[in-house]
Amino acid sequence: MSTTTANTAGLAGVVAGDTEICSVEQGGLLYRGYEIADLAQNANFEQVSYLLLVGHKPNDAELKAFTEELAAERHLPELVDNYILSMKEPLAAGTAAPMDVLRSAVSILGNLDPEAQSIDPDAELRKSKRLLAKIPVIIGHCQNVIDGVDLVKPDPTESHAGSLLTMIRGGKKATPEEERIVDVSLILYAEHDYNASTFTSRVIAGTLSDLHGAVTGAIAALKGPLHGGANEAAMEMLKEVDEFVSAGKGSVEDWLRDAFVQKKKLMGFGHRVYKNGDHRAGILHELGRAYTEKNHADKLKHFEHGEAMMKIMAEEKTIFPNVDVPCGMTYYAMGIPVPQYTPIFVAARITGWAAHVMEQHANNRLIRPVSNYTGPAQRSWNG
Ligand code: SDX
Repeated sequence: MSTTTANTAGLAGVVAGDTEICSVEQGGLLYRGYEIADLAQNANFEQVSYLLLVGHKPNDAELKAFTEELAAERHLPELVDNYILSMKEPLAAGTAAPMDVLRSAVSILGNLDPEAQSIDPDAELRKSKRLLAKIPVIIGHCQNVIDGVDLVKPDPTESHAGSLLTMIRGGKKATPEEERIVDVSLILYAEHDYNASTFTSRVIAGTLSDLHGAVTGAIAALKGPLHGGANEAAMEMLKEVDEFVSAGKGSVEDWLRDAFVQKKKLMGFGHRVYKNGDHRAGILHELGRAYTEKNHADKLKHFEHGEAMMKIMAEEKTIFPNVDVPCGMTYYAMGIPVPQYTPIFVAARITGWAAHVMEQHANNRLIRPVSNYTGPAQRSWNG
């Protein structure tokens, strides 16, 4: 027994394994060797999904077949639709969040998938594609239930991003600009090496458990506000800042100074790996700001408040926004309900999780670290 505290709190800086999928460095973010700004500018989410899942950039024929497969799988078993419909009251009461409904729906999909129990690589790729296609439908149908409208049938002719946005907004078609911005956000969210949820999926896969189980666990890990839940929390924070300013209680700086005094964690700021800024944040900020300025000038104030906070945080704390701040502000301008922001993160990260589960299964060893025991020394039950 040792009474010292392990110098590994949060496993910070610990290299937990190898991966060929993604490199997260201060100097750059690469998906299978392609730099994130290059992908955001020149690829679409379907291409990036193929790259992550299959391992190489698709040629035209491969992309066409992949896109058609996804479109054909864009529907849910009746049992899953019925489950989502049955969640109307818990969603209204707030005992269930859309992220929880998504987690359970993915788990039910696992109960119904004809290849659920197989960890054969080809079966895992097929299951990954099915999940990739179906997750946006779960998100859309969940929002339709919340809004009390008929379930919006996915349009197979729309892109992955366009169809997701159209379903969430009750059938209101995404404009090409909106479709492109959501598409870029999905590219940026798709993969990020051994982050908490992906590590969770690898731990589950490492026991030789199945893909749907690993993804269900990963969704639970992503939900927390220190991880993927930060995109919702960041927007809630910006709304709070705006209420403070609009009520004449003070400036953004006043709100922030008070947050410093209260030692509040600013949601959407900071990162375990990136200490000089998140490579993804600027890409989405620029796109989201331009879109908001042009289409929703009334919501530009959130960008202005966010930018005022970013300036002070950078100058005084050397802490920078991660991708969740621009994501929150951009989705808000598009009219996407805040509780769907982290589910949309899932719609992207499913590609990264599935790629990691397949990589883990291809070269598996049980993941089982040891702990530093800090409890009492041995003692006798009978005293
Ligand atoms: C994601 O890892 C990934 O790849 C994740 C992700 C992905 O793509 O999968 O990039 C997605 O999860 C982004 C992160 C989303 N979370 C948030 O935005 C929540 C707010 N951020 C923080 O709580 C924090 O920055 C973390 C959780 C992201 C990182 O935590 P660390 O590495 O454990 O850092 P820390 O909490 O120990 O902070 C170090 C210092 C502390 O100050 P000191 O005690 O040393 O004086 O920096 C301060 C912290 O107080 N700090 C912050 C802060 N983030 C760090 N202070 C105020 N607000 C913040 N947001």
